[in-house]
Amino acid sequence: MSSHRLAVIVLAAGQGTRMKSDLPKVMHPLAGRPMIRHLIETVQGLSPEKVVVVVGPGMDCVAEEVAPLTTAVQTDRLGTGHAVAQAKAALGEFDGDVLVVFGDTPLITRDTLKRMLAERRGPKQPAVVVLGFKPADPGHYGRLVVGAEGLKAIVEWKDGNEEQRAIPLCNSGVMAVDGKRLWRLVERLSNDNAKGEYYLTDVVALARGDGASCAFVLGEPEELLGVNSRVELAGAEAIVQRRLRLAAMDNGATLIEPETVWFSWDTKLGRDVVVWPNVVFGKKVSVGDGVTIKGFCHFEGCTIGDGVEIGPFARLRPGAEIEDDAHIGNFVEVKKAKVEKGAKVNHLAYIGDARVGAGANVGAGTITCNYDGFDKSFTDIGAGSFIGSNSSLVAPITVGDGAIVGAGSVVTRDVTPGALAVARGNQMELAGWADRFRERKKAEKAKS
Ligand code: UD1
Ligand code: MG
Repeated sequence: MSSHRLAVIVLAAGQGTRMKSDLPKVMHPLAGRPMIRHLIETVQGLSPEKVVVVVGPGMDCVAEEVAPLTTAVQTDRLGTGHAVAQAKAALGEFDGDVLVVFGDTPLITRDTLKRMLAERRGPKQPAVVVLGFKPADPGHYGRLVVGAEGLKAIVEWKDGNEEQRAIPLCNSGVMAVDGKRLWRLVERLSNDNAKGEYYLTDVVALARGDGASCAFVLGEPEELLGVNSRVELAGAEAIVQRRLRLAAMDNGATLIEPETVWFSWDTKLGRDVVVWPNVVFGKKVSVGDGVTIKGFCHFEGCTIGDGVEIGPFARLRPGAEIEDDAHIGNFVEVKKAKVEKGAKVNHLAYIGDARVGAGANVGAGTITCNYDGFDKSFTDIGAGSFIGSNSSLVAPITVGDGAIVGAGSVVTRDVTPGALAVARGNQMELAGWADRFRERKKAEKAKS
């Protein structure tokens, strides 16, 4: 019985040339988070004792992203086998299983990795377990050569003959290797092949030559999609989004038109949340129970309490906190502001750097004037107050609890609780003036 100890090597030294980007490929986000983080979260669910990430020179941002995990730098990119060898110093002798995964294949699931490890630890104790798959277009993937005794070899497309290239079973690149054998296999790799690289894939034939057995496990093509270009990045995003939508629905949210809702990896939705079409959940959004989100809303960095109604066309920016049963209506933007329990901001408003007290009603067109070109200032709108339509609240300013601000006011001084404040031009009236004006004009026209 082998031990169940596990270490993981993540290969991420590739430049990602085809991305045409200044950002290392594995740092490109899926659902708002670098693809390498998705992969690391997946492998960490397997409770490995150690994870070593192999990065290329100058990929400090990748090292920072994966910290506190150990990174090893592969200075020259001499192939996947060479990349694995770079992890040796960090990993050392390890007699458990070593799982090798690719940083640019971030969609692999924990279940699939678990199946590989179960095979490794199964009765046959294969020295190497490879994750194979049968993509619709096998293209230039390495091919798995399988015989009666299991996996015999992996042949790279460039090195394969006609017959080998016709094999539909491809190498995903993911591998589970017996740690007791790994370094002895890796140090014997040669670069005498079509690409002149040290192929990790050759460990299969080497292990077989040592008399050990090798095996493969079949994975879903969708999980094994590699990201090499922006088009493939979009394809991977679509898969991640589909998973997030399914999870949201499984957890009790209704998505009326799921394929139009975009989630961040960390979006939290409560029970009985109803999301109408075309809603974007940016990073760090949490939504309580029984919330209705109408179409075309955009959220980022905000919290939404229970029973809230939002939208259509609402924008909640970072620091927006919408408490239970509040209403945020169409064309309302809220930034760094708390809208307390049951308050209503229903139409065409900007609420920034502010508090809207419980039960307050903020009328259409209300603007908190929070910025003077230099500093941001705070607007405090008291509980139960009423802000008339088209008012400008010039911060810093406080409207006391229960106060009323007349429509069209430009409020520059604090309003006492319970008072009425009106700050607009006084209405005057000239009786009959309009009638006299028209008569005079008509007479002028008739003369000319
Ligand atoms: C590799 C496999 C191939 C498999 C395919 C699946 C080998 C020899 N071939 O080929 O059988 O079908 O993946 O996608 O393993 N990397 C490094 N340092 C290197 C080279 C690669 O870190 O020197 C990393 C890359 O960043 C990438 C991964 O290893 O994450 C795979 O490298 P890549 O060059 O894409 O290998 P393929 O030629 O696609
Ligand atoms: Mg590749």
